[in-house]
Amino acid sequence: MTDDRSRNERIKEASDYLRGTLAEGLREEITGAIVEDDQQLVKFHGMYLQDDRDLRPERTRKKMEKAFAFMIRVRIPGGVLTPHQWLILDQVARDYANGSMRMTTRQTVQLHGIIKSNLKATLKQIDAAVLNSIAACGDVNRNVMCNPNPHQSQVHAAAIALTRAISDHLLPRTPAYREIWLDGERIAGGEEEVVEPIYGKTYMPRKFKIVVAVPPSNDVDIFAHDLGYIAILDDNGTIAGWNVTVGGGMGMTHGEPDTYPRTADVMGFCTTADVVKIAEAIVTVQRDWGDRKNRKHARLKYTIEDRGLDAFRAEVERRAGVKLAAARPFTFTSTGDQYGWSQGDDGRGHLTLFVQNGRVQDVPGAAQQTALREIAKIHQGDFRITPNQNLIIANVPTEQQAEIERIAREAGLLAPWSGLRRNSMACVALPTCGLALAESERYLPELMTALDEKLAAHGLSADDIVIRMTGCPNGCARPYLSEIGLVGKGPGRYNLYLGAAFDGSRLSKLYAEDLDHNGIVAALDPVFAAYASGRQKGERFGDFTIRAGFVAKTGNGADFHANVGAKARM
Ligand code: HEM
Ligand code: SF4
Repeated sequence: MTDDRSRNERIKEASDYLRGTLAEGLREEITGAIVEDDQQLVKFHGMYLQDDRDLRPERTRKKMEKAFAFMIRVRIPGGVLTPHQWLILDQVARDYANGSMRMTTRQTVQLHGIIKSNLKATLKQIDAAVLNSIAACGDVNRNVMCNPNPHQSQVHAAAIALTRAISDHLLPRTPAYREIWLDGERIAGGEEEVVEPIYGKTYMPRKFKIVVAVPPSNDVDIFAHDLGYIAILDDNGTIAGWNVTVGGGMGMTHGEPDTYPRTADVMGFCTTADVVKIAEAIVTVQRDWGDRKNRKHARLKYTIEDRGLDAFRAEVERRAGVKLAAARPFTFTSTGDQYGWSQGDDGRGHLTLFVQNGRVQDVPGAAQQTALREIAKIHQGDFRITPNQNLIIANVPTEQQAEIERIAREAGLLAPWSGLRRNSMACVALPTCGLALAESERYLPELMTALDEKLAAHGLSADDIVIRMTGCPNGCARPYLSEIGLVGKGPGRYNLYLGAAFDGSRLSKLYAEDLDHNGIVAALDPVFAAYASGRQKGERFGDFTIRAGFVAKTGNGADFHANVGAKARM
């Protein structure tokens, strides 16, 4: 029988539950890299092998090996950390990584620039903080996200409890992580069902992403994820159960219309008691039905397109032994964060800070990393990373609020005045991401300064408009769900997408291709002008661009590449 599975499938199968030759590779001092097959496996342990792309030309000239280093992504369900854990990650970043911490769009922390010989020391420190990076990347269930809304603390408590239960249940069981990184005893391999009862030897066909949302906030961007749960409240404000969403995803490839972003479908409603059972059933159906030949067609979104939602639901219900009820009504209002102070039920305060693109660092005039360290040293509540790459200092007693706010203000961590900047996200891209076609994190702030000038001229400075940028079409900052989406096409060049919904429920549409800096500003300025003069009361920018005919409306994923261009706009 021929084996037409993708190469990654064979690597996973032969890896002995994610061990591969990682332990040997770490001891190999002649190179800063690891062998190719292990590069795939190390992702399941929460790491990527990268190289500093800024240094590539010089090192090539000098005939040196690339400047290899690893990125480690920590697993932080719901984005909640204690101040002690924050301090350890901050220390590790300065001792072993490039000095900074990067909060991500999926509520985790990434550390960049860790050389191979420091990996074990880094992971030991992370372990000492009762954290790890298991399944933060790779073909498994990744970090489970959760609305960190501290305003409704009881509902939030239920949502985070559920988040942790789902996360724990779907964690890989292989002891490989402990063996390789923490010098644990080698535990003999067993039967597939024993080692990985849910995943088996070949894990998932592709990454799998789960979120939990608490309306009216859609900050987790539920429609971008494989599986989501929406809290549905009773009239008296307690949780009645959860709507289940399936089949969202962002990634696509330029020039390949068979690949597209897709918003998730609402599949039904279940009680809290059934949530984990349903999650496991959905994971195993995708494990068995997902495409293992073509990785570009391997996400759940394509399984649902190919098989249909009804067939998928029936199989999930059969495996879970649970019949889903009809989905209940819900309303989302936005995907953004509510900056500043909010008071919880118990009188404690929660301060949402703005951290540009999630990059925690000290730069001249803004010692933000130092400031957050100072806050962590005195803070008795917790730190919550938001799905928008921001940070909430949560559960602050009244007597400490002034001091914490002072530290934050002095470091420039309070929300900026610009409505665009307040609603912005960028993926990491250059210099670390090997897939980046263009800059993102290092460029978006500068672009926004230019756009803010135009917005000011039209009187739109304070308007909340969602803008997101990524360095390639994989979509790590979910650009196809932002009102202004910019996706790297090549060095200094971007595709511009418009028309997504402010509440995260509708994808955008390609508006213009291959724009450089001036091209982006020139393309957007007339749209801003039209919005300023022609919008209806309360009309969002994304909705306006459709009504005014700048772009056609995108229904769902398969429709994403349709009706693009001038003709569609006439
Ligand atoms: C489909 C293909 C994708 C691939 C191959 C991919 C690969 C990567 C890589 C290599 C990085 C590391 C960049 C760095 O830190 O230097 C990264 C970062 C990240 N990716 Fe993806 N990614 C994909 C799609 C997505 C999507 C759709 C999401 C979210 C919905 C996502 C979420 C993230 C997050 C949260 C980060 C951390 C940095 C940030 O917050 O910007 N990825 N991805
Ligand atoms: S969107 Fe592309 S460039 Fe940006 S981090 Fe993800 S893979 Fe890298």
